[in-house]
Amino acid sequence: MNKMVVAALSGLLVSTAAQAEPASKVAWTPEQLNFVKKGNAAKGKELSATCTGCHGEQGVSQVPNYPSLAGQLATYTYKQLQDYKTGHRKHELMGSMVTGLSNQDMADLAVWFSTLPTPKPQGSRQSLAKAEFLVKKGDGKRTLPPCAVCHGAEGKGEKMDIPALAGQQADYFVQTLEAYQKDERRNDIFGRMRILSKQLTAEEIKELAQYYQAK
Ligand code: HEC
Ligand code: HEC
Repeated sequence: MNKMVVAALSGLLVSTAAQAEPASKVAWTPEQLNFVKKGNAAKGKELSATCTGCHGEQGVSQVPNYPSLAGQLATYTYKQLQDYKTGHRKHELMGSMVTGLSNQDMADLAVWFSTLPTPKPQGSRQSLAKAEFLVKKGDGKRTLPPCAVCHGAEGKGEKMDIPALAGQQADYFVQTLEAYQKDERRNDIFGRMRILSKQLTAEEIKELAQYYQAK
C-alpha cells in the first residue's frame, strides 16, 4: 500500500473511532456489578457531607432543578458519577464535585444514597391521563415504547443503568429530558433516551415529569 492510502485509511479510522465513541466507559460485567454492590454505606454517608448542601440532608433535593438521589439504584448513581468524571456526562458543577473521588468512593456513595427512603410523592396524578397512557401503553405510531417497560411499573427503576423516576424533582426531570433531546446529555448507552426524548413534545415532557413526581 502506498503512503497516501495508508494516511487516508488511518484518518478514516480515527474519524470512525470518534463517531463510535461509547456513551459511557462503564461496562456492566459481573465483577463491576459486584464491586458496586459491595460499596460501604457508612463510608458513603461520611463522604456525602459534601453533597447534602445541594442534594438534601437525606438525599431529597430541596432545589427544583437539582435531582434527588435518595432510593436511587446504586448502579445507576455509580454510573453517573463515573460519567461525570470521564466527561461522558458534562456538567461543570458536578464535574468538579467528582474529580477527587476514587472508584471505591463512588461505590460507597452510590450504596449510601440507595439505602435512603425515596422522596415522597408530590401532587396528584388526576388529570395526567395523557402521561399515564404514555407510561403504560406508549405510542405505536411513534414507535414509542411505554416508559414502564424499562423504568418499571412503579417507576422504581430496573437492573443496572435504568434509574428510578418516582418522586424525582419535576423541574430536573424536564431539564434532563431536554438535554437528551438536544444531545447535550449523551451518556445513555445505545442512545435509548436520546431517541425516545426526541419523539416527545414539550407538553408531554412536562406532564410526564408531574406524573412521576406525583402518585
Ligand atoms: C453545588 C451543588 C451540588 C453539589 C455540592 C453536588 N451536586 Fe450532584 N448534582 C448537582 C446538579 C445541579 C446536578 C444535575 C446536573 C446535570 O444536569 O447533569 C447533579 C447531579 C448529580 C447526579 C446525577 C443524578 C441523576 O439522577 O442522574 C448524581 C449521581 C450526583 N449529582 C451526585 C452527587 C454527589 C455524590 C455529590 C457529593 C460528592 C454531589 N452530587 C454534590 C448539584 C450538586
Ligand atoms: C428502552 C428502555 C427505556 C425506555 C422505554 C425509557 N427509558 Fe428513560 N432511561 C433509560 C435509561 C437506560 C436511562 C439512563 C441512561 C443513562 O445512563 O444516562 C434513562 C434515563 C431517564 C431519565 C433521566 C433520569 C435521571 O435521574 O437523570 C428520565 C427523566 C427518563 N429516562 C424518562 C423516561 C420517560 C418519561 C420514558 C417514557 C416516555 C422513558 N424514560 C422510557 C431507559 C429507558
